[in-house]
Amino acid sequence: MANVKFYKPEEQVPLELHKVRVVQKLFLLPVEERVQKMVEAGNNTFLLQNKDVFMDMLTDSGVNAMSDNQIASMMIADDSYAGSETCNRLLAALEETFGTKYFLPAHQGRACENILAEAFVKPGTFTLMNYHFTTTKAHITRVGGSVIELVKSAGLEPVNDDPFKGDFDIPRLEQVIKDLDPKNVAFVRIEAGTNLIGGQPVSLQNMLEVAEVCKKNGILSILDASLLQDNMYFMKMREPMCKDMSIKDIMHKLADTMDIVYFSARKLGFARGGVIISNNEDLILKMKEFVPLYEGFLTYGGMEVRSMEAIAVGLRETLDMDIISQGPIFIEHLVNELDSYGVPMIKPAGGLGAHINAGAFLPHLSHADYPAAALGAALYIAGGIRGMERGTMSEQRNPDGSERYSELELLRLAVPRRVFTLSQLKYCADRVKWLFDNRDLIGALKWENEPAVLRFFFGRMQPVDDWQLKLAQKFRADFGDSL
Ligand code: F0G
Repeated sequence: MANVKFYKPEEQVPLELHKVRVVQKLFLLPVEERVQKMVEAGNNTFLLQNKDVFMDMLTDSGVNAMSDNQIASMMIADDSYAGSETCNRLLAALEETFGTKYFLPAHQGRACENILAEAFVKPGTFTLMNYHFTTTKAHITRVGGSVIELVKSAGLEPVNDDPFKGDFDIPRLEQVIKDLDPKNVAFVRIEAGTNLIGGQPVSLQNMLEVAEVCKKNGILSILDASLLQDNMYFMKMREPMCKDMSIKDIMHKLADTMDIVYFSARKLGFARGGVIISNNEDLILKMKEFVPLYEGFLTYGGMEVRSMEAIAVGLRETLDMDIISQGPIFIEHLVNELDSYGVPMIKPAGGLGAHINAGAFLPHLSHADYPAAALGAALYIAGGIRGMERGTMSEQRNPDGSERYSELELLRLAVPRRVFTLSQLKYCADRVKWLFDNRDLIGALKWENEPAVLRFFFGRMQPVDDWQLKLAQKFRADFGDSL
């Protein structure tokens, strides 16, 4: 990885190892209009219009900046329904990067999860994982399965020095398998870069141990590699066994050890789409029929063919530490800056984005006040910045209809790769700092309209009183005529 030291060490900042050649103009509305837009969006940042957003930190999914070579590759896409050369090129890129023989395409990550759930989850069975992801759990429960989370306890502590907070608790995994009986376990899913607990990595050692436990018990092992790119950076930086391995060695080792690997190519590969790979033909045959049923013909599976070319190039670029280090080092810079202001952050910094501990940020609010959602609404009002609620609003209610409070109430500020400059990240930190100094003004939210499934996507909420107007008035008083 490129090592560039600044002459004045105190001025050292992360350095972009790329240059920007296409730009998009941004708009920052006055604070009064931001309040109005938040009302129109039902206090749900998913429902904001992008034209009203200054910094879109909702997600890094499908919104990373592509490379010149990715865009160039899209021009040579072989856009045919069946048997396209593009599919063969993607297969070759998967063989090169992961070393796998078989590939099934799907339109995005959750479509892979739908296929996995249809093929392997029977009603009454259990799926074990370090931590759930929203869409994964929704697909498993939809077909009658249940999810059990087995992340080690450090993973659920907002601040803990553990370098791999996403690791499985292996003794608990073994005990749960024994208690359930292996035949009732549909599969074990390892989520790289554990999304909902702050983009925290899983060690290679732990992944291999989980696979070993699965093999011993005759249970299917599945790796969700959507966030593998940042995870591999952390493996290289923190894990002795990875020191002398290349990124390609790590990817080959993982694909060789797991029964199935799948990923959202909106994340891994910097493009758009979904991929399931394996070296086990029988497993592929169990899933294959679902591709034409739900996705599209086997050589495109619902993906735009041009995106498949971009994935192929993006995967090869993932082998380059100069490329995959950019996300984690900029995220760490943002986390450190916020931490230095006293803002409660998930630490150590993970991948994907900076995660604010909304529960600790707003100690006067309880889970039932939806603090992470309230902080998300407040940050849009304070700075035109769109984050994503990753707390109770992102949970599913319990089968009896009672609220399921999340372990952590987080506001995620995703850092799409190569999209924002350092000054924009500094602006973000500045507005969060202002909000932190005025946190007493932030109040609760309540449901106005609550969908039954994946409610965080289009549910609407309301402030319990006029706290948002008061927040905007304080902004005006502090910032004068500034946007
Ligand atoms: N698995 C993980 C770990 C993810 O982070 C995501 C998506 C998916 C599966 C589903 O993939 O979106 O292509 O259908 N995460 C996005 C996010 C939505 O914003 O974190 P998808």
